[in-house]
Amino acid sequence: MHRSIQDHFQDRIRLPQLRERITSPAEAANWISNGMTVGMSGFTRAGDAKVVPLALAERARREPMKITLMTGASMGSDVDKTLTEAHAIGRRIPFQADPVLRAAINRGEVMYVDQHLSETVELLRSRQIAPIDVAIIEAIAITETGAIIPTTSVGNSASFAILADKVIVEINLTQSLELEGLHDIFIPKHRPHREPIPIMSPADRVGTTAINIPPEKIVAIVITEKLDSSSTILPPDAETDAIARHLVNFFQGEVQAGRLTESLLPMQAGIGTIANAVMTGFIDSPFSHLSMYSEVLQDSTFELFDAGKLDFASGSSITLSAQKHHEVFSDIGRYKDRLILRPQEVSNHPEVIRRLGIIAINTALEADIYGNVNSTHVLGTHMMNGIGGSGDFARNAYLSVFATKSVAKNGKISSIVPMVTHVDHNEHDVDIIVTEIGLADLRGLAPRERAKVIINQCVAEPYRGMLNAYLDEATARGGHTPHVLEEAFSWHARYRETGSMLPQTCALSEIEEEIRDKELA
Ligand code: COA
Repeated sequence: MHRSIQDHFQDRIRLPQLRERITSPAEAANWISNGMTVGMSGFTRAGDAKVVPLALAERARREPMKITLMTGASMGSDVDKTLTEAHAIGRRIPFQADPVLRAAINRGEVMYVDQHLSETVELLRSRQIAPIDVAIIEAIAITETGAIIPTTSVGNSASFAILADKVIVEINLTQSLELEGLHDIFIPKHRPHREPIPIMSPADRVGTTAINIPPEKIVAIVITEKLDSSSTILPPDAETDAIARHLVNFFQGEVQAGRLTESLLPMQAGIGTIANAVMTGFIDSPFSHLSMYSEVLQDSTFELFDAGKLDFASGSSITLSAQKHHEVFSDIGRYKDRLILRPQEVSNHPEVIRRLGIIAINTALEADIYGNVNSTHVLGTHMMNGIGGSGDFARNAYLSVFATKSVAKNGKISSIVPMVTHVDHNEHDVDIIVTEIGLADLRGLAPRERAKVIINQCVAEPYRGMLNAYLDEATARGGHTPHVLEEAFSWHARYRETGSMLPQTCALSEIEEEIRDKELA
């Protein structure tokens, strides 16, 4: 590249000799060859590699190219979609949320390894899975020593860059240089020399503000101005408002009982519409000086900051709607001293989650009458997104909450079923189930007790009656966790056959009326 153009990037590429590595996305993609494992930055559409992957997809349309693609979590910029359409993804680890890739996974064309998000780089570091050949990391800048300063996510970027043979950096000029100082890069030592992660509160900084790697590993630098993709979440609705209300009432009870103070404990909120809407509901709560030790910081985090409810938020990415993205990043200085972005193995680390006593709020696709939760597999077979960090948090939380609307698909699916068709979070990791109908506090309850509370608190008619009938029949047969094995999946089978879990004698309007009555109550 011409010298004056190179000089133009002095503030973005501060180690002068690296400016000579500025190249085009297509040239950079040439470092990747068929069969390689590629680690890309990106976590729930934030801070993802954006242009080199698309150039790679272009090449894959002309020549054989199948890679193992590892990321932090889901990608934006249609990266997963475009690579899938170019048949360039052979294996995908550890999370995705793209409809085109999802369909390819469910057709068996892409081998998807759905992993706890805290574990991927542990497996890489200890060489239990194939090593990373090339890492592609989005950055706001490269420092004087060649260290990479990430953008709106950290995810697995630090370990990918450290463990890869070669690193390609996408310098994104739309990402503000003001983000420098936001990140806290802490890399656990190899075993047996592992030491505790010294985080005692969400605001603790324990690492560096950039990813330190030998600069000679940076083989190509690409300049881009592509914006992060905005989140696809929907605004709160009457049902999510009701879920939030039930949770706020529950936490008020915990405060009154002296088990929590008004600042509660650090909170984690899962991805998606429901978890975001539930957190928004905390704006109208009596709690104050809240903190978050979470994974994805969504719109609700900044709404809580603006409402004066939230003191500090630690996460691994910032994923916002288009409007919120503009508001937050045009004035990030306003929030910067109240935010930290960490590697996902630290944001989701069981040790830290257990120490801090996290209140984890995640979303279920379905839960069963005993409190087992399926967050990933529609009808037990078809992958939705993946477990993400929900297992990291649910297993180790002080209090593990799962929220879901009581029905999906206009009432044709009950989210509470006799037996879940896939288990991501078993009954031992689930303390609270909450729907718009009500909240089931399962702490200290045995399975038969849990079933009664879940059915009567969280389910509307006619599904409530159907579940009570199932429980009666199961209980008559005996067992610690009673079931009628011949019928346990009959609701799912009926949905597959008729398009509804409701028996044909049952009108949909019946359930709609019941839910409306409950919401108004
Ligand atoms: N069976 C079939 N489909 C169901 C369903 C069920 N039991 N329950 C919900 N759905 C469908 C909804 O109808 C909706 O479909 P649509 O996109 O066609 O409208 C879709 O699933 C998403 O549901 P929604 O109610 O909008 O919830 P959400 O956006 O909050 O997402 C999860 C819910 C479970 C998909 C999402 O939270 C997730 O992927 N979780 C797993 C990962 C995770 O928890 N990570 C967080 C760790 S920090």
